[in-house]
Amino acid sequence: MIESLQSFLSLADAVIITNEKHQILAVNKTYECITGYSSELIVGKKASILRTKHTPDDTYVGMYEALNNGSPWSGIFTNRKRDKSLWHSSITISPFIIEGSTYFVGVFRELEQLDRGYYLDEKRVASIQASLLKVLAISCEIRDPGIEPHLTRVQKLTELLAQRHNERCQLDMPELVVAGIAHSSILHDIGKSAIPEGILYKPGRLADYERTIIEMHTVIGVDIIGKIYSELDDEIFENEFSTAKNIILYHHEKWDGTGYPHRLRGTEIPLEARIVSVVDVFDALISKRPYKEKWSIPQAVQYLQENRGKHFDPDLVDSFLTLYEEGELLPESDT
Ligand SMILES: [Fe+2]
Ligand SMILES: [Fe+2]
Repeated sequence: MIESLQSFLSLADAVIITNEKHQILAVNKTYECITGYSSELIVGKKASILRTKHTPDDTYVGMYEALNNGSPWSGIFTNRKRDKSLWHSSITISPFIIEGSTYFVGVFRELEQLDRGYYLDEKRVASIQASLLKVLAISCEIRDPGIEPHLTRVQKLTELLAQRHNERCQLDMPELVVAGIAHSSILHDIGKSAIPEGILYKPGRLADYERTIIEMHTVIGVDIIGKIYSELDDEIFENEFSTAKNIILYHHEKWDGTGYPHRLRGTEIPLEARIVSVVDVFDALISKRPYKEKWSIPQAVQYLQENRGKHFDPDLVDSFLTLYEEGELLPESDT
């Protein structure tokens, strides 16, 4: 072992030293205690001996890329101890070139808050949330087999519009907030699961009382989502909950204050609900429904323009138009 690297082994954190082929040259006492591997057992083995599939592949890709360029790298690893239990740690690996050879010194810091379970990075949390919300939305609206393509398109268009509006108006919304709006948009009509089918799918004109019942889907939806989230009682869903609630409750509010359920106007309506409102109406127009033929995209775009500042947030309509003009909108629906 190179003398000058020896001092790293006296750190209180777990330390591993490898050669350029990632073969283990030395580990310290803390490393032995945490992993259950003694120096005798592990020296000479490849550092990947502790690897598990719980560490995403792109973590390793990023690590090798940095180290091969001679840069230090830090990240999160989920490794396996000798007794097969998992060990979550944040690691910093620094390369050292000594007498023409490269050595890597890895210093692990345990993620104390994780005494069991897995570390999940933000992207993975977001993708799990997205899948859960989709299952939830589809299962609530299962009575309408045509609904899934509509929900998927609303989600995609919401993402496009939120991103574009964020850039165009320099709103500085973090990427995860934009993704949260897109994921939650799929839930906008979840409250329709509680509306009698006879009213929901009634062809022709609705009586006033029937319309009132249909309009209840906003407040019922909030009640449903509130129950689900309180059951989950997990802080990783906290932000998603307020976004989902705003979308469900306010996606039928109108910019000029003539919408429902609370007749909010302008920016009193949360941005996420204003976005979904544009997208939901647009997709409904370009879709075939039992009571109407589908409109062409130019016709639907014209409708948005005519209702700019009436039904819809004028700035959002402008952002939507830039998507249209650049050919970013999805192909017309067949359903
Ligand atoms: Fe709705
Ligand atoms: Fe909808």
